[in-house]
Amino acid sequence: MKPKVFITRKVSEEITQKLGEVCEVEMWEEEDTPVPRDILEEKIKEVDGLLCLLTETIDKELLTQAKHLKVVSNMAVGYDNIDIEVANQQGVMVTNTPGILTETTADLTFALLMATARRIVEASDYLHQGEWKTWSPMQLTGQDVFGATIGIVGMGRIGEAVVKRAKGFGMDILYHNRSRKLETEKQYGVIYVELDHLLRESDFVVILTPYTSETKNLIAQRELALMKETAILINTARGGIVDEKALYQALKGNEIWAAGLDVFEKEPVSLQKQLLTLPNVVTLPHIGSASINTRIRMAQMAAVNLLNGLTNKSPVYSVV
Ligand code: GLV
Repeated sequence: MKPKVFITRKVSEEITQKLGEVCEVEMWEEEDTPVPRDILEEKIKEVDGLLCLLTETIDKELLTQAKHLKVVSNMAVGYDNIDIEVANQQGVMVTNTPGILTETTADLTFALLMATARRIVEASDYLHQGEWKTWSPMQLTGQDVFGATIGIVGMGRIGEAVVKRAKGFGMDILYHNRSRKLETEKQYGVIYVELDHLLRESDFVVILTPYTSETKNLIAQRELALMKETAILINTARGGIVDEKALYQALKGNEIWAAGLDVFEKEPVSLQKQLLTLPNVVTLPHIGSASINTRIRMAQMAAVNLLNGLTNKSPVYSVV
């Protein structure tokens, strides 16, 4: 009997066909609406494999109902949407899609940094709203990127890819990570510092660490107060790493200069959110890995991970 799999969002026919050769495939057919929780609860009881996105919360309640489940294949590098401890206890393998999205996410991180520093969104709105009456010396002036100091919090694959870009911009590079990355230090001349030091010295603080119980609200009121008044915070990791209320206060009180956010505590972010009312915040709808090629490759990798997990083949990008 073929193993049963459920895919929580519409993926290409290429993927469903590939999976269909080995599995009995069911899919939530919508492209832009997450699968409702009750349907996911129903499906998870029946299937051997689940291919899901970061929009699905795969928690204890769900996992303990999953009597046949062998693999959860997450189409993302982050897997904070999955209760890894319970998956472990249940003997469920969890896989992710690292590597292939590294450069794309680093590109977006740098694009957001540049856009925030040079007020690109605000300037574009200014033009479109008919505000542009003349050229004037201090109109829409921002912060320099070239030659500035960047502080990277989380020196994993994406952190290192951001380093390569920062080198091209002649930046001094500080980093903080759970463990020192001696190879990266040697290769790129990046300097390891304690988090407080990084916050005090950096013109750009870039958050690229995974979201865990240790990094929840890592950047809160105290940390924001350490940053320079001219500093810019960029978050392309997970929203919960930054305390959004504290960030709003720091931006409103001109304690820091601006923020560029691709991620939010709760997604999609509410348009009523105070942070969205500030002109010095550039916001994006979690598009770090969103290039056509990368998203296609992530779906392919998630499918291969699922198949490998179901057939006990390696290599599989397993996080459990
Ligand atoms: C996106 O945020 C991912 O984790 O892949």
